[in-house]
Amino acid sequence: MNETTSPQSGPPPSESLQSASVRDALITDQPSDAAEVARAARLLHDGGLVAFPTETVYGLGADAGNAEAVARLYKVKKRPDTHPVIVHLSDVEQLHDWAAEVPEGALRLAERFWPGPLTLVLKRAVGVPDAVTGGQATVGLRIPSHPMALALLRQFREAGSENEAAAASTFNQYGSPPVASAPRLRGGIAAPSANRYGRISPTRAEHVRSDLGDDVDCILNGGACEVGIESTIVDYSSGHPVLLRPGGLSAARIAEVAGEELLLPGDNAPRAPGSHAAHYAPRARLKLLRRTDIIEYLAQHKGQRVAALALEVSVARLAAQYTVVMPAVAAGYARMLYANLRHLDASGADMILVELPPDTPAWAPVLDRLRRAAHDEPLAPREPGRWGQFKRKAAAGMDVEAEGVDSGNAVMQAAEGDGAESL
Ligand code: TXA
Ligand code: MG
Repeated sequence: MNETTSPQSGPPPSESLQSASVRDALITDQPSDAAEVARAARLLHDGGLVAFPTETVYGLGADAGNAEAVARLYKVKKRPDTHPVIVHLSDVEQLHDWAAEVPEGALRLAERFWPGPLTLVLKRAVGVPDAVTGGQATVGLRIPSHPMALALLRQFREAGSENEAAAASTFNQYGSPPVASAPRLRGGIAAPSANRYGRISPTRAEHVRSDLGDDVDCILNGGACEVGIESTIVDYSSGHPVLLRPGGLSAARIAEVAGEELLLPGDNAPRAPGSHAAHYAPRARLKLLRRTDIIEYLAQHKGQRVAALALEVSVARLAAQYTVVMPAVAAGYARMLYANLRHLDASGADMILVELPPDTPAWAPVLDRLRRAAHDEPLAPREPGRWGQFKRKAAAGMDVEAEGVDSGNAVMQAAEGDGAESL
């Protein structure tokens, strides 16, 4: 018989994370403390790269006013430098430093939903570096609500103003105050999701570590992300709200507060890599299928290593060798989606079958990510995975998760089975 488990939320401590080097001292199963956040703010200020938790996904941060640091960020992410990056702020007031124009509706959205999972794209102010806009005339701005992100942003901003005050009081050898150079915008952290370009976004500190390892100077651990998928992006640069990416905040709530309908992007919409087809992708192939088609697929592909991401309502009906059961409520599903895709990918399955969630507005952001992950691009070379290990342990009746095979997500157990049950 096939086994399945219901999702749980807390991650077990991961063994590999406990053998920490000095650089990795921040990566334990313990949340980072205030001293670590303060150190991270200084690192950012000195041009370092810091991964930090937000309520949506983990971000990889650099000083948005430091072109060199942002260039390194792009390099680590392996992201083309023509793609813009979101600048994270700590206070709605900063909006006016970074944006040239803030339409009334955009301001209402910022005041109502920040801090929170909303990114506003606005006309950029003079002084916003090309490094964060990808050379476009707009800039993406957001205030995240995760307390650790907010603490980091505030301390980073304060560190910047202290330095400016010190510089302003330093007179040169002729006794004159320093000549004002072009004002450099301070207090913004440029942060894309902390994964390599095109891959699944991280929702736990250990995901960042396994993706980016020593390429970053510090990883703050703020636990599992509450929302689990990226922010909703609304482009207000034309004066009207255009939905560039569905996400953590519902389009209906945004339209309600903006007081106007959200438009969909036209042909000349700004470039947004998250809106490319092959994004958020695991290495295994991923197919999005209706429940009945999954059953049929399983029956026809008995020899293959097939994993399934099922909806709670269909547990008893699916019979993949390896099944994860997801909540039937969209917010809960979103919260666990990326961690489970990583998990299934690491199992060594060749194919991940995902049960198609309902096509309703509440599921739109989840469906968007699943459709992109299910692209038909040629496969990236993959690691051998741990499929055999899972199957052996499961066959011996062992709880795979308790055996520590799992690397930090308490969602599933291996299951043994050889095909589909009939309906
Ligand atoms: O939830 C999130 O938004 C996370 C957390 C870390 O804040 N960040 C995130 O960043 O998802 P990233 O870089 O993975 O995706 C940001 C998206 C990209 O698709 C980018 O093209 C778009 O935002 N974007 C940023 N600035 C833009 C701009 N000026 N115009 C159009 N799109 C922009
Ligand atoms: Mg991303």
